[in-house]
Amino acid sequence: MRHSELVASLGRRFARFTTDVVVPRPGLWRVFRPVIRRQFDGLAPVWNDMRSADALAAYEAALAALPEAPARALDLGTGTGLGAFTIARRFPQADVVGADLSERMIAEARRLTPADLASRVRFEVADASRLPFDDHAFELVGLANMIPFFDELARVVAPGGHVVIGFSGGAATPIYVPPERLKDELGRRGFADFADFAAGAGTALLARKRDRA
Ligand SMILES: C[S@@+](CC[C@H](N)C(=O)[O-])C[C@H]1O[C@@H](n2cnc3c(N)ncnc32)[C@H](O)[C@@H]1O
Repeated sequence: MRHSELVASLGRRFARFTTDVVVPRPGLWRVFRPVIRRQFDGLAPVWNDMRSADALAAYEAALAALPEAPARALDLGTGTGLGAFTIARRFPQADVVGADLSERMIAEARRLTPADLASRVRFEVADASRLPFDDHAFELVGLANMIPFFDELARVVAPGGHVVIGFSGGAATPIYVPPERLKDELGRRGFADFADFAAGAGTALLARKRDRA
């Protein structure tokens, strides 16, 4: 195995290990945060070259099933912004925020923003475990290949709003959480109406946050 392949393989294993530790114990995220940030800062310049053309196919299939268009959407762990651009293209009236821990990913996302989306897609450096957004700020929050922090996720989704969680390689994705676990965590935080999607090699889950009682 070449040195670069070995490094990439170790990076994928570390991302899976981090996901497996942090999802059940989000308090441990502070231990992993600096390493994950450095890892993705390093990947930012080559990230798009590593993506297959259909990497977000399942994410898009779930977006296509939304019963109504969101006015405000967040793509969390946006990387170079592919998910944010996908949401903006599907919902032409939506204002879209792409947020990521990695400053270099956000710099790439800003650089790659198509001119016709620039007025309604913006990018921010932010940590999903402690988001700088108001309660109920978004009708849609999407995560593609990203570790979910369920309390913050539930806080920023508006009542009646939706969450889409996608993994480009299904269960083989380095950052992966099984659908049963996603449904359990989301269900305990007021989400329901779960729908599963598969497209290309990927899988995705759509869930709706209940209206206020
Ligand atoms: C595997 S990449 C996915 C990027 C993009 N969503 C895609 O599918 O092309 C994961 C991204 O999540 C970001 N990330 C990881 N943990 C995060 C956190 N707690 N808050 C915000 N971003 C995070 C990383 O910096 C990285 O850009």
